[in-house]
Amino acid sequence: MTSTTLHLGQTLRFDGDPFSEGLAAIHHERQGAVLVSDGTISDLGTADALRARHPGAAVADHGAGLIVPGFVDAHAHYPQTAMIASWGKRLIDWLNSYTFPEEMRFGDPAYAREIAGRYLDLLLANGTTSVCSFCTIHPASVDALFEAAEVRGMRVFAGKTCMDRDTAPERLRDTAQSAYDDSKALLQRWHGRGRAAYVITPRFSPTSTREQLSALGALWAEHPDCLMQTHLSEQTDEIEWVKSLYPEARDYLDTYEAFGLLGARGLYGHAIHLEPREKDRLREIGAGLVHCPTSNTFIGSGLFDMAGLKSGGHTIGLATDTGGGSSFSMLRTMAAAYEIGQLRGTPLHPAHLIWLATQGSAQTLHATDKIGNLAIGLEADMTVLDLASTPAIAQRSAEANDLWEALFPTIMMGDDRAIQATYVAGRRR
Ligand code: GUN
Ligand code: ZN
Repeated sequence: MTSTTLHLGQTLRFDGDPFSEGLAAIHHERQGAVLVSDGTISDLGTADALRARHPGAAVADHGAGLIVPGFVDAHAHYPQTAMIASWGKRLIDWLNSYTFPEEMRFGDPAYAREIAGRYLDLLLANGTTSVCSFCTIHPASVDALFEAAEVRGMRVFAGKTCMDRDTAPERLRDTAQSAYDDSKALLQRWHGRGRAAYVITPRFSPTSTREQLSALGALWAEHPDCLMQTHLSEQTDEIEWVKSLYPEARDYLDTYEAFGLLGARGLYGHAIHLEPREKDRLREIGAGLVHCPTSNTFIGSGLFDMAGLKSGGHTIGLATDTGGGSSFSMLRTMAAAYEIGQLRGTPLHPAHLIWLATQGSAQTLHATDKIGNLAIGLEADMTVLDLASTPAIAQRSAEANDLWEALFPTIMMGDDRAIQATYVAGRRR
């Protein structure tokens, strides 16, 4: 039996990219409707038109709520859930002091399952319906996340984090061969099973040997439909470290490029301090850059050049980078992206922010045929925003003259209280 629900509320969807096409790329319906049949969006339009076309459908009336595509977090570390907001360190010390000890706990599959469930529930409470996450070096940490996602029906992208160099603690090291073998087995188990997608995941070049990077490059060449995720040029001392470990490399990106780890389905987290050659290569290839603004301020990494890179034609998504990032919320993440834009003299419009948190991230994940928009045929991952979720936000949005003035206070000041409802493949979560 088909289950069909007609969702009523304000709706926001994209006909294009507002960075290149302006506000004409955004379609807002004040009294809009989304019809969902068996987890898929099957019709869109005004409430009046859809009520007339589908008189028998069950109705979910969201009132003045704004129905947007579910948020897509393009870079996160679910194993860092329990150590988010750890004080006072910069990247390398932060990894050694807080991150690696916590990731060691994932040697216990029961702990991995506990955190995976806790993490995905936090995402749903914050309106995030899809994530691309690092796991730990333990294969069971990958199973734990995909199993928890399967139970919740979520489209999740993830992979085993690979580290085989003595720059990482011994208890968190694999080998070039075991990283290849374990990644391959996990890929065969999970990639394309339901809504799971396996992502080949070398942590970053400082914690891998050349042999490991090369083995993972070979695995990617054997499975070119997979994504590959890593980190690139996050902090200046990290870049100096990469230079000392790979003196033959032209730049940081070259440490991936030389081993078959540069491609259109590659996701490069942070990408703050890029050399001209790196920018050119990333654009030529069409690789995905992932902006992690709360992380970049929290760990003190630097100010991502959204305006310059986007106008240069780069593909860019938005992400929390939990727990380097200081929030699970993509609203808070959009606010931080706005603030970084301000510090660079290039403020982002709310249309840019909401696009980055949905369609932009889905583009970097090569998943716009499934998620990241409200469009017929897409999976019905939707978030309903209450644009008056606190007294402070309500009194500001009451003064709004248009959608953008109504939405921006929620972007800047909203938290999980602004999430009126979250739907995953049409089911309320
Ligand atoms: N670089 C390598 N690993 C990590 C990580 O876990 N978080 C962040 N922010 N950067 C990294
Ligand atoms: Zn990261």
